[in-house]
Amino acid sequence: MKLQNVTVAYGNKAVLRDISLDFPKGDFAFLIGGSGSGKTTLIKTLIAEMRPKSGTVTDGSGQIVSNLSGKELAKFRRNVGVVFQDYKLLPSKTVRENVAFAMEVCGYPDSKILARVPEVLSQVGILTKKEAFIDTLSGGEAQRVAVARALIHDPDVIIGDEPTGNLDPENALEIMKIFERLSESGKTVIIATHDDKIVNRMKKRVVALRDGRVVSDARSAGYSL
Ligand SMILES: Nc1ncnc2c1ncn2[C@@H]1O[C@H](COP(=O)(O)OP(=O)(O)O)[C@@H](O)[C@H]1O
Ligand SMILES: [Mg+2]
Repeated sequence: MKLQNVTVAYGNKAVLRDISLDFPKGDFAFLIGGSGSGKTTLIKTLIAEMRPKSGTVTDGSGQIVSNLSGKELAKFRRNVGVVFQDYKLLPSKTVRENVAFAMEVCGYPDSKILARVPEVLSQVGILTKKEAFIDTLSGGEAQRVAVARALIHDPDVIIGDEPTGNLDPENALEIMKIFERLSESGKTVIIATHDDKIVNRMKKRVVALRDGRVVSDARSAGYSL
């Protein structure tokens, strides 16, 4: 995915200013920055939830995402898996039901759902908990389920908005290792975080935002603002 001279505003207030970034296939990038620096807005712009005031966001095949609508937009969204800090799972349903439900609303036939759910659950190491109810899981387990759900359409891009914000350091690292494996398998991974310890430990690309601008972009980097 690629942003070219992207400016995004809420009303008259610009919150992303002239951002140009390229996230090639298989890249693993952290997006860091203080609260209010624009991380979530950048993610919303990448997934076509917000439209740039100027500039363009293009997907892996070069399509301008803000021009997509209807079927094309739905197809684009299936190709981008998103994971949030608060999991956004259905607490009174089981692990299996949560992942299956996400496929049902997309109209997959039962046979596909039956085959795919165990695949994604084992990809994140949570298959043994498939009949557990979400509200009995630890935070780390719940986040694995959310990652599994993000993988159902086998997306080329995985985006996380503070995905380890509610986890202890050990579980946070486990989740990051899952994202690392996904990038090694060719998926593009973009993770917004302010967890300096994890960023320092992973030695990945680090894009730093301040006041809606990119202030640094470095490979094999640490957390520095
Ligand atoms: N819905 C909104 N309406 C107006 N301003 C907003 C809205 N959401 C975020 N902002 C502002 O945009 C700026 C960037 O916010 P955000 O992208 O959420 O930053 P971060 O995720 O880095 O904390 C902040 O100044 C924030 O107050
Ligand atoms: Mg945010």
